[in-house]
Amino acid sequence: MSPRRAVSAMPSDSSPDRSERVHEILAGLSAPQKTTSPKYFYDRAGSKLFDRICELPEYYLTRTELKILENNLDEMAAHIGPRASVIEFGSGSGTKTRLLLDHLSEPAAYVPVDISSFPLLAMAEELAIDYPQVAIRPVLADFTRPFELPRFARPPDRNLVFFPGSTIGNFDASEACALLEVMRAEAKPGGALLIGVDLRKDPDIIRAAYNDSQGVTAEFNLNVLRHFNREFGANFELEYFRHEAVYDEANSRVEMRLISLRRQTVMLADTPIQFERDEHVVTEYSYKYSLGEFANLARKAGFDFEQAWLDENALFSVQYLTVPG
Ligand code: AVJ
Repeated sequence: MSPRRAVSAMPSDSSPDRSERVHEILAGLSAPQKTTSPKYFYDRAGSKLFDRICELPEYYLTRTELKILENNLDEMAAHIGPRASVIEFGSGSGTKTRLLLDHLSEPAAYVPVDISSFPLLAMAEELAIDYPQVAIRPVLADFTRPFELPRFARPPDRNLVFFPGSTIGNFDASEACALLEVMRAEAKPGGALLIGVDLRKDPDIIRAAYNDSQGVTAEFNLNVLRHFNREFGANFELEYFRHEAVYDEANSRVEMRLISLRRQTVMLADTPIQFERDEHVVTEYSYKYSLGEFANLARKAGFDFEQAWLDENALFSVQYLTVPG
């Protein structure tokens, strides 16, 4: 008999359809400053490239966060308490999730929320095998908008929203505040948020992390165009675009860009997009916070700051915020 448990995703009403996504992409690429959403990095190829980024010597974020979790999860679990329902915004490789579940006392449920069904269901199925005591209930949704949580026969003692990886860095101040408010709403009064936040630091360390010597980040960035070609019938020619990542210290953010190497017209869903030579598309912001800046943001979103754990070089933080009530 197979040990596999069937896991299917609960599609939320907020799961965006294809025409909605095309509309969003075209709006971004028609604006005076062209932009694309970083969520389009993560097709299959992009997710694999991101896994390779996490292994790069220059990319300190993932391994530093993992070390902070390993060193402090006992203490974090004491804050969280027993029978929590873990609601993860996005589905990562599963390493951090497993680490968290391994340290929690009687975790009641695990609810990964992702816009894309591939990593979501693959990860959920693997976890279902290894954590038979935990109710695994994936939700297919764009987590930047409110979504409905699965209902449980036995309600958990507490909702813990888990948002590792400093994905919060992808959002500007007002978007980040709105996303934190969604998290606060999903955590419910008495619930909590465990979040990874990349910190302000020596700009050279940051620049190196987004301009790696093996060019994996460049591949990852350019893969957005490949994704648009395959998924949305675009005809980007990748050899006429180049990766660039600049650190804007005043705004405390990395800007990932794709620069057009010539004047060109690209079609996407039968709509022409005009690029000037040297014009760039912003494909991602990655904001870095001081502890004080992030505490202010969290307070604005209605959280109480409880504790932050840092690595020895203060590169990265994992923070525990609670919802009053
Ligand atoms: C997954 C959003 C945390 O901002 O560092 C890695 C993605 N972009 N290299 C980041 C990313 C370029 C990343 N986050």
